[in-house]
Amino acid sequence: MPATAPVPARAANPPQPDPSWIRAYQGRFVVFEGPDGSGKSTQFRRTVDLAKQHGVRIFEVREPGGTPVGERIRQHILLARADEGLEMGIRCEMLLYMASRAELVEKKVMPALKRGEMVLADRYVASTLAYQGAAGGLAAADISAVARIATRNLMPDLYVIFDIDEAAAAKRLSPLLDRMEAKGAEFHRRVRQGYLEQARHDPARYAVVDASKPEDQVWQSVQRAMIDKTRILPPVRG
Ligand code: TYD
Repeated sequence: MPATAPVPARAANPPQPDPSWIRAYQGRFVVFEGPDGSGKSTQFRRTVDLAKQHGVRIFEVREPGGTPVGERIRQHILLARADEGLEMGIRCEMLLYMASRAELVEKKVMPALKRGEMVLADRYVASTLAYQGAAGGLAAADISAVARIATRNLMPDLYVIFDIDEAAAAKRLSPLLDRMEAKGAEFHRRVRQGYLEQARHDPARYAVVDASKPEDQVWQSVQRAMIDKTRILPPVRG
């Protein structure tokens, strides 16, 4: 009888990625972005959990906010009511987001990167380019100029964009909308286009995942995208 190699049993599920890839992000700056209702916060938590399981020191931040001053600014932007005379112009709004970010970068993000931690941010400059730029009408070049000052030109190593159309996203929002969420379908359509445009211009720094799929499938896409980018991550900051 000729010897035959044993036939491996067929796996019931597709092979899962080796989760140790997350270690490549130690010392890196990663940002999750997407329209309101894209489900990015759920994926954010899963990424934090994975990092912790694999001994990656991870520092979480969210925008606007994340510092005492930033939280005040957040309340002001998201809760400002026109009927109380607090409605603001788009330039003021953009500068407030940037002011919150300047504080966050200086007090939290840069020190964490210096300590060699992975920083995972819920929103960053790409939000301003999408919301106040593509949707709000400010020029991208102007926003980028202010961002350079606010962040001391600190760019993330990777933006993960959770892409979803405005109708599907709107269904996921709670009925109690904040001031940005209440801006309507056309505004949010432009937000989405703003993100996709950024990704087209800078494909090395951006990964786009289809966020309309069920949570577990989106999680697979996030992992695939982050594994893929490990090949081209810039060197860790000194
Ligand atoms: P938040 O409740 O944190 O929403 P999410 O959980 O979707 O991040 O609210 C942040 C809102 O602020 C969101 O509608 C996006 C908007 N935003 C801007 O318009 N510009 C910005 O620069 C940032 C950081 C956020």
